[in-house]
Amino acid sequence: MTRQAWLNGVFIAADEARISPFDRGFLFADGVYEVTAVYGGQLIDLERHLDRLERSLRELKFGTMPDRKELEEVHRKLVEQNGIEEGYIYLQVTRGAYAGRDFVAPDKPRLTTFLFGEKRALIDTPAARNGSKIVALPDIRWARRDIKSVGLLAQALAKTEAKARGADDAWLVAPDGHVTEGASSNAWIVTKDGQIITRAISNMILAGVTRHALFDSLGQRGVKIIERSFTLEEAKEAAEAFTTAATGLVTPVVSIDGVALSDGKPGPVTRRVQKLYYTAIGADVAKAAPWLGG
Ligand code: PDD
Repeated sequence: MTRQAWLNGVFIAADEARISPFDRGFLFADGVYEVTAVYGGQLIDLERHLDRLERSLRELKFGTMPDRKELEEVHRKLVEQNGIEEGYIYLQVTRGAYAGRDFVAPDKPRLTTFLFGEKRALIDTPAARNGSKIVALPDIRWARRDIKSVGLLAQALAKTEAKARGADDAWLVAPDGHVTEGASSNAWIVTKDGQIITRAISNMILAGVTRHALFDSLGQRGVKIIERSFTLEEAKEAAEAFTTAATGLVTPVVSIDGVALSDGKPGPVTRRVQKLYYTAIGADVAKAAPWLGG
């Protein structure tokens, strides 16, 4: 089946979509994006993703917003047209294409808005079952990581380096030795005395939608999350660690720079958090994630 996408108001076969090389997204990475998970054919936390999209655009002084109702509708139609039970919808908005290459942004941009959908396992993946091996790399990104910018070169290089070193993913470390976040996820640790810790929201990290959802689910059960920075050393000594993102949901971390956490297997707190999150998005855990033990 041809993958369906949507570009500037028109549904189109994904491989027929065309964007000008003068698009500011291409020339200056002048654009933002969102990735919304789909599970059971339902968009997970779409409103929070659209809130964050609008915030990113405001912070970058776009001046023009895409029509939110239309974006909601397009998300839903792409889930349907692409028959996505499990996967994601990608959305990108750039400040558009103009006659030449001008650093100064136009007052009233003609936005380029592009969406596509993809089927992909989110729950039953090797990383969710067995955990992922992480390498720590210097965080060389710009100072506004709270904006979900398409300027992802540092993240792409970090993930490529992680793979070259035989690991699954990268965590990024600020010059002060504290972990900021994963290359495309938020980072969490569980201390030996059972405290669940993740870095507080600031310009240093992206305010993850999955992170936010976990605050809700854990909060409802009276489980406390401590928001504070932790160093790479503390992470290596933690009992457990995991990451959260729309693409990996809750993914256990089993080693950092070759140092195994506890026995090198996903820990019991992480397993509970996975179960809780999968349940919250409507999964029948016994069927979808039998390794969690029903
Ligand atoms: N990335 N931090 C960074 C740097 C990210 O790129 C992401 C998500 C997150 C988690 O955010 P959320 O829970 O809203 O997905 C945190 C997406 C999935 C990506 O780039 O593919």
